[in-house]
Amino acid sequence: MSESERIIRQQKTALVTGCSSGIGYNLVLELASRGYKVFASSRRVDEMKPLEEQYPKNVVIFKMDVSSLNSIQEGYQFVKEQLSKSQTTDSPKLDLLYNNAGQPCTFPAIDVPDQALLDTMNVNVTAPIRVTKIFSSLVINAKGTIAFTGSVAALTPLPWCSVYSASKAALAAYCSTLAFEMEPFDVKVAHVTTGGIVTAFSDVRPIPKDSLYLSTEEGVQCFEYRKKMLTNLNGTAADKYCRSVVNKIEKISGSTFNIYEGSMSWVGPIANRVLPRFIILAAFKAKFKLDALWDSLRRKYSYENKKQT
Ligand SMILES: NC(=O)c1ccc[n+]([C@@H]2O[C@H](COP(=O)([O-])OP(=O)(O)OC[C@H]3O[C@@H](n4cnc5c(N)ncnc54)[C@H](OP(=O)(O)O)[C@@H]3O)[C@@H](O)[C@H]2O)c1
Repeated sequence: MSESERIIRQQKTALVTGCSSGIGYNLVLELASRGYKVFASSRRVDEMKPLEEQYPKNVVIFKMDVSSLNSIQEGYQFVKEQLSKSQTTDSPKLDLLYNNAGQPCTFPAIDVPDQALLDTMNVNVTAPIRVTKIFSSLVINAKGTIAFTGSVAALTPLPWCSVYSASKAALAAYCSTLAFEMEPFDVKVAHVTTGGIVTAFSDVRPIPKDSLYLSTEEGVQCFEYRKKMLTNLNGTAADKYCRSVVNKIEKISGSTFNIYEGSMSWVGPIANRVLPRFIILAAFKAKFKLDALWDSLRRKYSYENKKQT
């Protein structure tokens, strides 16, 4: 075996979903800088070209829409063929499968448009489960790691994020059992409970005009304030977050599977354990300026008021 063949065989391999921006983009840079061969996927291929240009030997970009089963299956064939070529083995190995692609969903719980509900559950829950099922044999061959970008929103009653939070809570539950079931294959599972990270991740779709929450002036002001909040987020830089996450993933061992990373990622788990719910709600009311809105809605929709009108 030549020296270059030996190096190629030893090279660690990773597949990351959702690499056209934000966390996924920075994960690819971090892994490639550590010498991994990274298969970077998303729907917008052009946005990933700079990754391949920066690391032509280490990064392979390809289109994979995780909301489509067909696209995931095609992605699997592509990655398997690429691995088989470079690894010269009957059992192609993927050291790290990173389910990162996700989409936001920010609407009051009773206003979520049906398509937004279905899309969010598809991209944030069904997709990572399908990707994991389909690529698992490659990770088992490598005794590798399956990682997921979760969210602290899964643990907190974050206002207007009920469906997004539900999708990330479902993902966390899936990971917990997956980690247990992967034990006999020596495959590690990392669920990354992620706090605020500076990326383009925000839902700019308008709240439906007939929403009860927009039926008072206070409601209109509240959603205007929320828009401004989104542009002034004090999050962790995506490159810093990815460096720390990859450090932790490379060291993960035993039954540990939860990793906490990013601004305020520690708050959810601690608050859930030690704080009474009314304190958590009071903190969110203050942060999102909800007191005035709640009062206006109570005035408008209370039984007593309705009786008088
Ligand atoms: N930013 C935060 O504060 C934060 C906090 C907690 C958790 N997260 C999670 O972090 C992950 C990455 O988000 P981000 O913050 O980096 O936001 P982002 O910059 O908007 O990135 C989202 C990525 O997901 C990809 N994606 C969306 N739908 C897809 C689909 N159907 N198929 C393939 N890829 C798809 C997008 O690529 P294409 O559009 O090109 O397909 C994009 O690359 C998400 O799972 C999100 O829930 C973010």
